[in-house]
Amino acid sequence: MAGQRSLLWPAVSSCTTVFMGPSLSERSLRQQLRANTAYAAYQQRMALALLDVLRGCGLTYMSQADLTIGYVLGSGGFGTVTAATHATRGALAIKGIALVDAQIHTSATEDEAAEYVVRLQDSTYALDGLLAEARFAGRLAECRHLTTACGIVDHDGPFSSGSVFSLALPLIPGGHTLATLMAECLAARRRIPLDLLLDIVQPVLETLVDMHARGVLHLDLKPANVLVETGAGAALTCHVCDLGIAEEVGVGGAAIVDCARGTPGYWCPRLAAGERAVTGAADVYGWGRTLRALADLADPVDGPMAPVARYGPALQRLVAACEDPYPPARATLDDIEAELAQMRWALPTIPEHLRFPAF
Ligand SMILES: Nc1ncnc2c1ncn2[C@@H]1O[C@H](COP(=O)(O)OP(=O)(O)O)[C@@H](O)[C@H]1O
Ligand SMILES: [Mg+2]
Repeated sequence: MAGQRSLLWPAVSSCTTVFMGPSLSERSLRQQLRANTAYAAYQQRMALALLDVLRGCGLTYMSQADLTIGYVLGSGGFGTVTAATHATRGALAIKGIALVDAQIHTSATEDEAAEYVVRLQDSTYALDGLLAEARFAGRLAECRHLTTACGIVDHDGPFSSGSVFSLALPLIPGGHTLATLMAECLAARRRIPLDLLLDIVQPVLETLVDMHARGVLHLDLKPANVLVETGAGAALTCHVCDLGIAEEVGVGGAAIVDCARGTPGYWCPRLAAGERAVTGAADVYGWGRTLRALADLADPVDGPMAPVARYGPALQRLVAACEDPYPPARATLDDIEAELAQMRWALPTIPEHLRFPAF
């Protein structure tokens, strides 16, 4: 297929032999060798992974020629997300990553060589992230309140500043997230009312229920990974995004990860401490921390936190149950669902100062 070639080969075929200049010190030689070995491994991985995606994940293949690129919606650890209009499919969000597209120059200094290795590593992680999104898209397409990729974009030439691999996702206009909402609340010196807080975290919980039922852990729940759409009046619709470090669970309901991934403050303490088997309890932790962040209007930090008392004891207990450092003792998704239902039922009886806490 012509499309497969143009997606794969421009980057892969740029692999050339590297000549080491005689002026380099032995240390520089070693460093460059390491960089170029890494580059070759990176290219091979990219080629195999892209082929894998193209063959296996069933996403629609889109040509860049059919896209009109619009404004930048946001960016994260992996790349930039841009609004676009497709000739037949309408509005989309295009999530692209810039792959390292050249080898290090023979006259590079040791610092440049070291920096280059870091760039390769970052780019490899970014690629892994996009591949995870692509790979899980089909399986998770029916999950409630989750944005999943609907296409792979074939970039026939540079897209924007070196982006050579992109996914298309349904567009959430504006690209606002719960992190944006928190910033707006802080600026206006207003707390999120309790009923809205519950309305926000409920769909995020439902996403987790659906993902876990399909054997996938999100592992990066946080306000910046929940897109927010504003409707009429104060209505908000939440969509969980970013499957970049999602993992499939194996035997025993655990996924084995090679390193601590996620976001400090939101990741499970056991994972941060070196444990490599993660279960759905890690997402419960992330969900609880997201709720805490929304209640506090601040990112949580690693370690024990002060109680979220301003919304009353029920919310405080719920957050604490999600933050139990020992995963088996942590609340389950079922526990949380029951607790949220109970809190909603009790809302009319909750005193005004707990439903609308002062800033
Ligand atoms: N489908 C989408 N529609 C609108 N904006 C989006 C969409 N997906 C992501 N964004 C924006 O791009 C940002 C980064 O996206 P994300 O998927 O979290 O990437 P990363 O893996 O780099 O963290 C989000 O915080 C949001 O602002
Ligand atoms: Mg993100």
